[in-house]
Amino acid sequence: TDSDGRKRFRLDLREGSTEFLPGLPTATWGANGTYLGPTLRARRGDRVAVDVTNHLPERTSVHWHGMHLPAEMDGGPHNPIDRNATWQPYWTIAQPAATLWYHPHLHQTTAQHVYRGVAGLFIVDDPATDALPLPKQYGVDDVPLVIQDKKIKDDGTLDTSKMNFGGLTITGLLGDKILVNGTYDPHFEVKTELVRFRLLNGSNARIFHVGFADDREFQLVAADSGLLGAPQPLNRLLLSPGERAEIVVRFAPGDDVVMKSFPPPLKANFAYARLAGGDDEHDLVKFVAAGTLRPSPALPATLAPQPPAPQPTGDPFRLTMGDFTFNGRTMEMQRLDRVVGTGTVERWEIVNSQLIPHNFHVHGSSFHVVDVDGEAPPAHLRGVKDTVYVAPNSTVNLAVSFLPYSDARYPYMFHCHLLAHEDSGMMGQFVTV
Ligand code: C2O
Ligand code: CU
Ligand code: CU
Repeated sequence: TDSDGRKRFRLDLREGSTEFLPGLPTATWGANGTYLGPTLRARRGDRVAVDVTNHLPERTSVHWHGMHLPAEMDGGPHNPIDRNATWQPYWTIAQPAATLWYHPHLHQTTAQHVYRGVAGLFIVDDPATDALPLPKQYGVDDVPLVIQDKKIKDDGTLDTSKMNFGGLTITGLLGDKILVNGTYDPHFEVKTELVRFRLLNGSNARIFHVGFADDREFQLVAADSGLLGAPQPLNRLLLSPGERAEIVVRFAPGDDVVMKSFPPPLKANFAYARLAGGDDEHDLVKFVAAGTLRPSPALPATLAPQPPAPQPTGDPFRLTMGDFTFNGRTMEMQRLDRVVGTGTVERWEIVNSQLIPHNFHVHGSSFHVVDVDGEAPPAHLRGVKDTVYVAPNSTVNLAVSFLPYSDARYPYMFHCHLLAHEDSGMMGQFVTV
């Protein structure tokens, strides 16, 4: 806590070297370390500030994905941090408990900077839900899993060649090595009956379909923007880049089971599904449970009280996804694509009329998925979210609740979170006034 009563964090972005594969150092970037960054954590009502210092060889930015804050503090393309400069955003945490994350967001270099390793989690706690009997011992039964794919060349360097297209890539570079929390081939020792995992798909392009090798059921307890009203039983969870989910998994003594990514149902045609990783299967983490497990309290039947379904006003705003465009236009730093009323709810209709998979993320808001192709959203899309998969030839309807911060000068972004698409211009800007 600083002299102004703010909780102060520090992120030093620097170059480093990480041995993902034994004996083969890889040049990486990180925050306060060589790859990825620390998990930041604050409570609803806290006033926070961050000193972000850029020791990287080029300018970057740090965006607080999913955080409810004024546009000027959002860390998007309009908040560049020059080499050796320090950026000092500050805000008040004003949202329910959620698993958020931070990552660079400069126009046209987001893919490179995230891929090299600048990213981390930001966990928000809320006194209103603190008492819920959910697993909460960080690193023991409340475990973050940042899932990313990488392509590592024989000399140990990261392959970034197809990062922004070329060759047979439609969604960007897909790697064959899976890292979880920056570790290749990870395992985790389970000590409690229930474990809560905070999953983040921190990949540039790869879409994961998370489940267990033995198909065991798990409970979805939170979506991107916070806890659900009640746990939802699932045995597969589709997670596109930028999406988070919290799940609770039951283990038995002596269990030996792998969390996997199964071929994701991308709903693309045969060729495009293959090119976008739709046939791929990966082991994510191996779990080994102790011979005796510490008992966990039973999962509560209800979690967080859900606010009434937001009622959009005004005409729907329709965004059609094209060849790395929205409504036929690529991102322009000086062009506004939408003006939104501060604190209003709008219906946004996201239309993917292409053969290529996309997803959609909006800053300065959270949203409910109203329907997907006219049908009620599946269980994993029922919570409050900020990022959603948009399959080829499909339309996703959102009720977007905008924040009460008004600023006519600094815009918020909306974009495809497949980072090669975003960098190619599949992004737009809006202000709330
Ligand atoms: Cu995760 Cu606009 O970003
Ligand atoms: Cu964001
Ligand atoms: Cu896209």
